[in-house]
Amino acid sequence: MAVREPLREREILRYRKRPRVVHAMLASSFLVLLLTGLVILWPALAGLASGGFTRWLHRVAAVVFMAVPFVYWFADREGAKELMIDSFKYDRDDWRWLKRFWSYAFGHTANMPKQGRLNAGQKMHHALVMLLSASIVASGLVMWFFMPSLGPTGQAWAAVIHDLSMLALALLLVGHLYFTFVYKALSGMTRGYVDIDEARLEHAKWVEEMEARTTAEAEEETEKV
Ligand code: HEM
Repeated sequence: MAVREPLREREILRYRKRPRVVHAMLASSFLVLLLTGLVILWPALAGLASGGFTRWLHRVAAVVFMAVPFVYWFADREGAKELMIDSFKYDRDDWRWLKRFWSYAFGHTANMPKQGRLNAGQKMHHALVMLLSASIVASGLVMWFFMPSLGPTGQAWAAVIHDLSMLALALLLVGHLYFTFVYKALSGMTRGYVDIDEARLEHAKWVEEMEARTTAEAEEETEKV
């Protein structure tokens, strides 16, 4: 298998193939869950849900969605661990960055504190994805397997938690897509590489670290020759 260079002309490697496949699995299963969930919930679309196909598809997508953390763990343990830890670890620059979030939201990065592999906004997004997904999965499993034994109050609670968590995740997705396009990050999830100047705007500390590492490795190679 060809080894992909972390840095190449004007581009930097953001995601290798395995995390990209896991992300595609997460994104596609979530979108199917959202669409089929809307069909099941919304009276105007109820006709589409008749015959049971939508409910079946919702459950198939739920199984794929629940498998995501396990697939990530087995396919790329280091990446999965890094994502878990980074998403919940905030340093002083992260808090300073969050205070200036609105500047970043409008595309201004000149006075933002330098950020690492994930900027503080991404850390919050990814942490919320994990917490809300856990809430969606727990309430969904309760509704799937224990609905008859819950009683009307329990059933209502499970449905409210499930629907509100899904709504919150859908709103987060709007922000996620907005920043993906404003900071030209999409190629990181399609080809793996992003433009190095764009990456510098969002992750200056990380880009500097990767450049220093590449220079050190090149010097080591030269010394060996
Ligand atoms: C459907 C369209 C989507 C697009 C175009 C998209 C795009 C992206 C991109 C470009 C990144 C990499 C950002 C970076 O440079 O760090 C990313 C990361 C991520 N996205 Fe999405 N995303 C989508 C859907 C979703 C959904 C639905 C979720 C959650 C339910 C999600 C959760 C995440 C997470 C957790 C990461 C971090 C992945 C990791 O570090 O392994 N994305 N996304």
